[in-house]
Amino acid sequence: MINGGDENPAFWRRTRDFCEEVILIYFDNAATGGFKPDAVVSATTAALGHSANPGRSGHKLSLACLERVYNVRKLLCDFFGAYSYERVIFTKNCTEALNLAILGALTAGDEVVTTVAEHNSVLRPLERLKASGVKVTYAPLDKEGEVDVESLVNSVTEKTRAVVVTLASNVTGATPDVKKIKAAIPENCLLICDGAQACGHFEVNMQKLGIDALAVAGHKGMLGIQGSGALLFSERLNPKPVLFGGTGSESYNLNMPDFYPDALESGTLSYPAIISLGEGALYLMQNLQENRLKTEQMTAFLCENLVKTQGVKVYSKPNPCGIVTFNLDGMQSEEVAFRLSEDYGICVRGGLHCAPLMHKALKSEGLVRASVSAFNTMNECEIFIKAVKELSAI
Ligand code: ALA
Repeated sequence: MINGGDENPAFWRRTRDFCEEVILIYFDNAATGGFKPDAVVSATTAALGHSANPGRSGHKLSLACLERVYNVRKLLCDFFGAYSYERVIFTKNCTEALNLAILGALTAGDEVVTTVAEHNSVLRPLERLKASGVKVTYAPLDKEGEVDVESLVNSVTEKTRAVVVTLASNVTGATPDVKKIKAAIPENCLLICDGAQACGHFEVNMQKLGIDALAVAGHKGMLGIQGSGALLFSERLNPKPVLFGGTGSESYNLNMPDFYPDALESGTLSYPAIISLGEGALYLMQNLQENRLKTEQMTAFLCENLVKTQGVKVYSKPNPCGIVTFNLDGMQSEEVAFRLSEDYGICVRGGLHCAPLMHKALKSEGLVRASVSAFNTMNECEIFIKAVKELSAI
């Protein structure tokens, strides 16, 4: 066994088992989903035993794995109302998907409008592009602490090549009105969306919303494992490779194939991760609406009770993404998170959540983020509120 972390083998059990015994409460689902449906766990475990490389050797096993990868591509295309399954690219996470869309599709001279609510996976590639002559404008927040859509669309001109916007803030769970953004921007302006905290929590249909590129995290709301993710995009953008290598196709060619998905999928794909993402999507096709309702109810309960707690300031409203963020007077967010973990066995995330401009706009130096999933319970929410009340009384 690999060493590290807790030495006691009993520590390394499924998060769900811990939670069922109320040894800990996992409220950090926005960082990574703590609960996987049994179908995901068993399909992924089985996939670990398939020693074949999809798309390489051409033998029976390899072809069987390739067929399953192709089926997940089609499944994701349907799930997200995307444009064509060839334009579904498997990535190792949402960050890689966003880098592909941003660095692969935007070039010197382009103008981009984005928002202060973005995660570093959008901010950092865009800031890097600034050095090569891309102009980046940041839309602020409104008085409610949400993306100021009015201001965003007013920053868009005929010259704007793309709007890059998150479908849900990883700090507050707020969801900008993407339909409104799409309706207000010029026809030729691309709409690139970060779906890290949205996908799997509520319906995201690219064609209905007019999204040109959607970056997906596999291990959060989509219920897959870490190492899974995808970029889906329309024919209105043709991202260039940002990674070069073997694809199993055109092996004589010293350049990357110019067709998708191969052009953007260098190196061996993570077959188990892709299978997990596919099983997660299958599960969600049956359960998304019910899960959404449960998650919204829990965030409503948490917001309502935190607001009533002395010394607590809440930054979220009830939302389908499960995110409830707050701070406690006189205590740093990291300290609150540490106390919740050490004294109550409650897992949350403090700090800046890799979204520095959002915190700056909220005038925050760090917040406590509790993030629930539909697999959490109201009982856990009650225990959590009791714990925060106790901490606030110190
Ligand atoms: N982006 C993840 C989060 O918000 C890791 O916590």
